[in-house]
Amino acid sequence: MTTSPTIAVIGAGLDRVDAPLKVTGKAQYPNDFGFPGMTHAALVRSTIAAGRIRAIDTSAALAAPGVLTVITHLTAPRLERGPMTLLGPSPPAPLQDDRILHYGQHVAIVVASTAEQARHAASLVRVGYESTEALLDVDDPRAEVLTDPWSLDSERGDVAAGFAAADVVVEGTYTTPDNTNNPLGLMATIAVWNGDLLTVHDSTQWPHNVRTSLAAIFKIPESGIRVLAPYVGGGFGAGLRMWPHVILTVLAAREIGRPVKLVLTRPEMFTSVGHRPNSVQHIKIGANRAGDLIAIEHHGTSSVAMEDDDYEPVSLCSAVSYACLNVRTRDRQVRLNIPCPGSMRGPAEGQGNFALESAIDELAHAFGMDPLEFRLRNYAEVDPLSGLPWSSKALRECYLQGAERFGWSYRTPEVGSMRDGRWLVGYGLAGVSYPAYQVPCQARASVHRDGSAFVRSAATDIGTGTYTVMTQLAAELLGLDTSRVRFDLGDSDMPYSPQAGGSGLTGALGNAVHAACRRLVREFLDVVRDEVDSPLREAKLDDVTVSEGRIHRIGAPEQGESYTDILARHGLEELSADGRSTPPQPEELGMAVAGAFGAKFVEVRIDPDLGLLRVTRVVSAIDGGRILNEKTATSQIIGGTVGGIGQAMFEDTATDQETGRIANATFGDYLVPVNADIPDMDVIFVGEPDRATPIGTKGIGEVGLVGVAAAIANAVYHATGRRIRSLPITIDQLLL
Ligand code: MOS
Repeated sequence: MTTSPTIAVIGAGLDRVDAPLKVTGKAQYPNDFGFPGMTHAALVRSTIAAGRIRAIDTSAALAAPGVLTVITHLTAPRLERGPMTLLGPSPPAPLQDDRILHYGQHVAIVVASTAEQARHAASLVRVGYESTEALLDVDDPRAEVLTDPWSLDSERGDVAAGFAAADVVVEGTYTTPDNTNNPLGLMATIAVWNGDLLTVHDSTQWPHNVRTSLAAIFKIPESGIRVLAPYVGGGFGAGLRMWPHVILTVLAAREIGRPVKLVLTRPEMFTSVGHRPNSVQHIKIGANRAGDLIAIEHHGTSSVAMEDDDYEPVSLCSAVSYACLNVRTRDRQVRLNIPCPGSMRGPAEGQGNFALESAIDELAHAFGMDPLEFRLRNYAEVDPLSGLPWSSKALRECYLQGAERFGWSYRTPEVGSMRDGRWLVGYGLAGVSYPAYQVPCQARASVHRDGSAFVRSAATDIGTGTYTVMTQLAAELLGLDTSRVRFDLGDSDMPYSPQAGGSGLTGALGNAVHAACRRLVREFLDVVRDEVDSPLREAKLDDVTVSEGRIHRIGAPEQGESYTDILARHGLEELSADGRSTPPQPEELGMAVAGAFGAKFVEVRIDPDLGLLRVTRVVSAIDGGRILNEKTATSQIIGGTVGGIGQAMFEDTATDQETGRIANATFGDYLVPVNADIPDMDVIFVGEPDRATPIGTKGIGEVGLVGVAAAIANAVYHATGRRIRSLPITIDQLLL
């Protein structure tokens, strides 16, 4: 592995290459597509959380205008459950029996000529239920408890001895509610069968997963399925798994022999495409008189759906964030009759960091030590789990430069000591050590006779800027202007890409694009290898560099030639090359592969009479390794921060404890931050390209959100002396 010295694309950043298409409405999102003869589907969802369907009467629906079919568990074929994936097992297949496992479970799909007819007919399906008592509360003693579900529980040192030796110990129970991802784009699926060939437009973060899953479920070869997702209206994790409504749409299209479109309604989005599950966390940390952490114990409990899986090791952050000899982390899940959870931006980290960084703040206050100084004192210089040096870590610079930008030194340490008129002012801080994640990826790069390049991979751009940064990266690696490079994605016929998720796509895809572009330059060199007249004869990849559409010898720009000259001379229309990336291996590198780090500084104002909380400033200092585009990267962090403010102050998916119904499943009822809730936000990037991969990026998709909730809660403590351990932070918790 060599780090490419040629990449120099950091800068103010290119505007999004897809922006003109988006602002002119030409970018086609899944629900923008239409086909001749296309029909429309609507879902019928369970109104109970547990029990059985006693009877289901579809006659009125079938007789309604325009209706083409109604499929229920009585008429659906037997379907295999989807396969094991990188993200764990697939959700249970729909309509396989009469059992109801959660409120909102799909019990029928209705297809009609128009969407309105389908929705009307769906309202006519009569379902009789036999309810049983639903398990809805993680404290319900009847619920099944899964211990250490991912084998990630950790233990080092002697935790009991550590606490016995500690001079100061703090502990507390922290709770976080269910949150719902709520991408703005309602998730849509269009299924088109052409004989045995299936085309699916889907709001997915991972086209290949949809293809693989549908192939297994419908027992057809993957080569007969094409999944398209050129534009997706956000995801935040909701589009990672292939959910049952996609299967139902494909099934319905096969049955009626016509294209079917299904667009989920906003209420359906709350029960059909995952959510961040609630958590109850107990954390205890201790330090000696000098301020050295000597013991951490973190136990997390999350909820999970019946017969489903979800990855939420919330306590793991406590094992990797600080230098501490004695640490025990434990996670468990409680099975409930709830809609299937799934990853939501910063899965597990978002919940776990709130408890850990609140407890760190509490301990610093217990000492009368500056929370910033306390964090620096307990800085993990090496990876606490493996003992290996980090491939990169500039968290210290995040703390120091973030503090400088924020004006942390103006903070007076005493609780309640800062005021602005009637407002109490608080400063809060949190650190983030986000885990690294990379999985294999492939890309293909071509240069055409006219000197333009085409690079592609079956990835998705869920609004994050993938089109743009990959265009930049390929342009840099091929020595072309970005206007001469087209990057395409969102098509399962393209080379394999993993999901846009886990903050892992830019690294996986960027390194695959790197490999493809480097190999493509080598292809050109191979073509001229034996040409006596070529200035590049017998040149090796390491001898050359690229610029202005030419390959030339390093240090000798005149000794080279253009792609177009080489192609023309050889009568070639194009040259192409494939590239793949594989995850960096800590053992081979002798380094712990680092993810992004961050420090979040927050100022809040609180009206002590009314309990009003306002976030007035946020500074995020981020070590994301090499930043490919400072503009889109800044947008990522700002967006993540908005999500973090939502988690901290607003978002709370409410489940009616009698029925399991999601009680606030609309944008009128489920609170998300609006413009008036969002303050000045400052983002700075620090650090160096990471050493673990050629392009040196570290994923920044999730580090923007994580830490915001703890920083706000810590600022609230600084302002009021009130330690909030339960999200979201609401007025009733702040009335003093
Ligand atoms: Mo993210 S929650 O991995 O889309």
